[in-house]
Amino acid sequence: MSLLKVTIDGKTIEVEPGTTILQAARQIGPDVAPPAMCYYTKLKTSGGYCRTCLVKVTKGSEKDPRPMPKLVASCRTTVMDGMEVQNYSSEEVVEARKGVVEFLLINHPLDCPICDQAGECHLQDLSYENGRSKSRYEFKRRTFEKIDIGEKIQLHMTRCILCYRCVKVADQLTPGRVHGVINRGEVAEISTYIQNAVDNEFSGNMIDVCPVGALTDKTFRFKSRVWFLKPVDAHRDCDQCSGKAVVWKYGNEIYRVTGRKDQWGEVDEWICNTCRFEKKSPSDWVEEGPRKINRHSVISQNHYGSKTRFVASPESLPQKQLS
Ligand code: SF4
Ligand code: FES
Repeated sequence: MSLLKVTIDGKTIEVEPGTTILQAARQIGPDVAPPAMCYYTKLKTSGGYCRTCLVKVTKGSEKDPRPMPKLVASCRTTVMDGMEVQNYSSEEVVEARKGVVEFLLINHPLDCPICDQAGECHLQDLSYENGRSKSRYEFKRRTFEKIDIGEKIQLHMTRCILCYRCVKVADQLTPGRVHGVINRGEVAEISTYIQNAVDNEFSGNMIDVCPVGALTDKTFRFKSRVWFLKPVDAHRDCDQCSGKAVVWKYGNEIYRVTGRKDQWGEVDEWICNTCRFEKKSPSDWVEEGPRKINRHSVISQNHYGSKTRFVASPESLPQKQLS
């Protein structure tokens, strides 16, 4: 099968037929890859919900060079031979993405100072790198009746951006999904059906895929900020999963266990709830060595610095961010 040529922000690559623009951009590298809040490589049918990955197709293909009339979701649009795409090089895309970020933040509470996801929240990174510094929204934010979805996972519905990743984890990794998105529009919410508890052995992966702090680990909540912990690759013999995980340590104590994530913040291999929630003793694990957190996160950098790619013009940023 012949490869297809696609050019994104001036960089050309050849990819297999069926590759999406987002995947092609990731193959070129992080400088041209659009952000993604709902797409997740390992979850079938993910993508198409959040619109943060919008790009502009300036040339449809070699055969039909007409541009696409509207911005398209790169996670759901496949590459055609000779296609030309603009991401960060298009002002229209940068401006539209700012709108998407503003929209995602409309109902999102600004509780980062007390949110366990702070430091590894994709919405924090997204709004810092692609958002506006102000919101124009003047109305009350949504609130929800609090529901307890189980012993190990905490749901904060006000923080949810309805990306559907956790629903797909439950559908594709566990034998019986007991939660989903109920209602639609402004009142759409993640909920369990008939007061069920989410307790399936692989349900903890919902915490890892949640891009915000809507689903957090009850065994770790309020114990520490993630950037105070030392991530270490470790494994154990497990009869339910690969047993390959990251243990987050403070001194010799293990504060939490998560899956290993790649440079796009996506889990390499799913882990079971026993490894995640029950194995917190150093003797449970064989340590392999320090984990390098690849994302441009405060965990790896300790602070936002000059390496962060700014999309906004330098003049529009407060001076202290530029130092
Ligand atoms: S709870 Fe998290 S993973 Fe689930 S839909 Fe909301 S934001 Fe997405
Ligand atoms: S990542 Fe493409 S629409 Fe969400």
